[in-house]
Amino acid sequence: MLKNDLLDEWDRENFFHPSTHLAQFARGEINNRIITGGDGVFITDRDDNRLLDAFAGLYCVNVGYGRTEIADAIAKQARELAYYHAYVGHGTEASITLSKMILDRAPDNMSKVYYGLSGSDANETNIKLVWYFNNVLGRPEKKKIISRWRGYHGSGLMTGSLTGLELFHKQFDLPLTQVIHTEAPYYFRRTDRSQSEENFSADCAQKLEELIQAEGPETIAAFIGEPALGTGGLVPPPAGYWAAIQTVLRKYDILLIADEVVTGFGRLGTMFGSAHYGIEADIITSAKGLTSAYAPLSASILSEKVWQGLEQGTDTYGAIGHGWTYSAHPICAAAGVANLKLIDEMGLVKNAGEVGAYLKTEMQAAIGNHDHVGDVRGDGLMIAVELMEDRESHRFYDPTLTMGAQVNAALLKRGVIARAMPQGDIIGFAPPLCLSRAEAGQIVSAMGEAVEEVLNG
Ligand SMILES: Cc1ncc(COP(=O)(O)O)c(C=O)c1O
Repeated sequence: MLKNDLLDEWDRENFFHPSTHLAQFARGEINNRIITGGDGVFITDRDDNRLLDAFAGLYCVNVGYGRTEIADAIAKQARELAYYHAYVGHGTEASITLSKMILDRAPDNMSKVYYGLSGSDANETNIKLVWYFNNVLGRPEKKKIISRWRGYHGSGLMTGSLTGLELFHKQFDLPLTQVIHTEAPYYFRRTDRSQSEENFSADCAQKLEELIQAEGPETIAAFIGEPALGTGGLVPPPAGYWAAIQTVLRKYDILLIADEVVTGFGRLGTMFGSAHYGIEADIITSAKGLTSAYAPLSASILSEKVWQGLEQGTDTYGAIGHGWTYSAHPICAAAGVANLKLIDEMGLVKNAGEVGAYLKTEMQAAIGNHDHVGDVRGDGLMIAVELMEDRESHRFYDPTLTMGAQVNAALLKRGVIARAMPQGDIIGFAPPLCLSRAEAGQIVSAMGEAVEEVLNG
């Protein structure tokens, strides 16, 4: 392919890249990478590097790259009807079919689907609906939302507030006052080292209850959490966590939003993380895996209980004043239908469970005993390696040493893309769900070499 040699210059002059050190990028201290293609778990850049994408983009390309079934469905929909809105009862075959397919896969108490374009806008919708619901039920004080430190729920005004990572608040005047944060379910980083997982979970639930009582239960509307922490460190919940948390939420009549933007549609080896961990949510947020990122689409999946409140509300107040132009966009919905079919046909949910377990076991065997590897953890195809300076005293590295980023760079040199997670020296792996055992082996051997190079050097 002929190269446009101006692209690098145009990129630095014109393009505001998200989540990027802007000044370093402008000065050319950060390389750009221009991606030209992808097939299966691999992507190709314009310098003809073929890289194993062990983070599936941003843990979203779940069926893998280059699936013509989805590309064809998108093209067909674009030719037949590229757009029509979904307001006041309008729909398309794709959007109606997709709603049925989602609810066929979702937990039994789920009842309706509202579409947006991103995980962030889905969570914005969810919080608005929770507020509306409580107004309809005549409890206008019950509006605060509890989220967890290290949770990730998006980058909007409300969702950036729900996110419990400092980077997303700093200098943005967030979090908003309606949002409060509670303990992260991060057993590996507990302060009392002698505590069992069950005791740690009970402690998280107790801290939650204390927070609710301090704020006043009549002011707390909902609790939002990812079934397993994602961007905050890829941390599966400790034993007994969700049971203990749900007991507290039920006691104070607080709605539960399970943010399944990452875990929805197979990543943990089950269709939803809620089923995986025994979570009975009132609302489920989904996005990424819904279309495997072939087109932007999110779905707020609402329980019958929430739906009943919304219906009642419109009888009192009229049509619901919440809509996006691109809600249920036909092209995105067509991508979703083709994607969910493909997930079934390729057996990807099962594969995520099996190859995920294999990847974790092999990773543990290869580097689990290394002096500077504190933890190899995960569930399904969501696996993390956490580095530490000293395992004996449980001392973490000084963040300014950027050890996680260095290991990540050493992996990249070996043709494997992972993700240095934003808070802590944590290398994240969340490859496409079609990963084979041979490809898992490739990730592990690259990681073995990267750890050797950076941490023994
Ligand atoms: C759990 C979770 N919720 C919400 C979001 C926000 O999704 P988006 O980036 O599509 O707005 C993300 C993104 O990574 C996520 O991981």
